[in-house]
Amino acid sequence: MTSAIAVEKKKLEQAPLELHYLGDRVLRQPAKRVAKVDDSIRILVKEMLQTMYSNDGIGLAAPQVGVNKQVIVIDCQLDKPEVPALVLINPKITRSSSQVCSGEEGCLSIPGVYLDVIRPSAIEVSFKDENGKPQKIQAKDLLARVIQHEMDHLNGVMFVDRVENEIALNEQLKKQGFAASAVKHIQ
Ligand code: NI
Repeated sequence: MTSAIAVEKKKLEQAPLELHYLGDRVLRQPAKRVAKVDDSIRILVKEMLQTMYSNDGIGLAAPQVGVNKQVIVIDCQLDKPEVPALVLINPKITRSSSQVCSGEEGCLSIPGVYLDVIRPSAIEVSFKDENGKPQKIQAKDLLARVIQHEMDHLNGVMFVDRVENEIALNEQLKKQGFAASAVKHIQ
C-alpha cells in the first residue's frame, strides 16, 4: 500500500494538533463517518501523523485530537522510514478470530498508563484509504491490537474500559493524575 501523504517519521518541535485526555467528553462521542475523502481529510491525516510521530505513538484516532470523524492513523514500524503508515477511514471489522490474547496497551490520551487488555488475536478490516479507495486487510498480533484499540476510540471507548485488573488500573490512574470515575467499564 503506498501512501499519498508523505510525512517524515520524526518529532516536530510542536505537534500541529492538540491531544485530548481521559476525562475529556470529546473522547466519549461516537465519531461520524467520512462522506467524502477529500483534501481536508488528507490534511487532517497529515497532521494526525505528525502529531502521532511527535508523541512517539503508534496509533491515533481523530477523536483524540478533538475531531469527530472516523479517521485513524497507525504505524507499528517507526524505525522503518520507508514503510508507509496505515490510514483507515470509516473502518469496519468484517471478521474477528475466536482466539483471544492478552497484551499491554497504552494510549496517547492516557499518558503513563500501561495495562493488559484481552482482544481477538486476528481480525479482518475493510476501510477507505487516504485516496478514498476501498481496502481490506487481515491483521494479527500487534497490528490487530492497535487497529482494535483505535477503532474503539471511534466508538467513544477507551482501552482502560476493557482492563480487567481493577486494582492495577486504579493504582496507575491515580499515579498519573486521572480520575477513576472517567473509566466506563465494559462488562
Ligand atoms: Ni488510544
